[in-house]
Amino acid sequence: MARRRIIAGNWKMNKTPSEAVALCNELKDLVKNDDVDVVYCVPAIDIVPVAEAVKGTNVHVGAENFYIEDKGAFTGEISAPMLKEAGVEYVIIGHSERRDIFGENDILINQKVKKAFASGLTPIMCCGESLALRKAGTYKEWIARQIKWDLTDITADQVKTLVIAYEPIWAIGTGETATADQAEEVCKMIREIIADLYDQATADAVRIQYGGSMNAGNAAELLSKPNIDGGLIGGASLKPDFGQIVNA
Ligand code: 13P
Repeated sequence: MARRRIIAGNWKMNKTPSEAVALCNELKDLVKNDDVDVVYCVPAIDIVPVAEAVKGTNVHVGAENFYIEDKGAFTGEISAPMLKEAGVEYVIIGHSERRDIFGENDILINQKVKKAFASGLTPIMCCGESLALRKAGTYKEWIARQIKWDLTDITADQVKTLVIAYEPIWAIGTGETATADQAEEVCKMIREIIADLYDQATADAVRIQYGGSMNAGNAAELLSKPNIDGGLIGGASLKPDFGQIVNA
């Protein structure tokens, strides 16, 4: 089944509002491609200016994080209705940096996936193993457990619209990319887990990205794999290289 490719940039904690607009303008012509969903997941303060800067283009706006309540005494947090009103369509949930640096666990991540769907946002739900788990050979069990926890009580119809990003932690920001075969092995396994948890139609519909040192040089090979439907790109999303990845 043909799944539409989705290439998302995760800008992380980079770009002030004026720098963000400058980057949008720099990338504007480079990321044109009507056959690909292109998403910029940007820092909260950049959402409004970026949404304005990409108006009328093929670029969709994403957030890097949000909290599960609509409003109230949650100092420092941002809610789904706030994101929606600002034009956000996608939100990254469960990134390893949120898990490891900010202590987010699978219970909260599952709550965020539910809240995102309830709010009309499409989750880009991240999973992936550490170097220790990769070396120990237990990475598949780890990822399977993450997926099951994070999708608790999520329906098949919701999963059909979900984006899952497989991001091996040892490949993030390290320059060490998983080989295309390593990435495909896990993305294929994730699709099989979805088939087991739901059904084959759901597994055929869910889009699975690879993330971790993806760049203009390795994107085409990774994206040629049957179970890799796109990329979640950190460092290279801040450069003209991102256009090459979109068009790889
Ligand atoms: P890099 O592309 O910088 O390795 O980051 C990957 C990532 O964490 C995207 O979410």
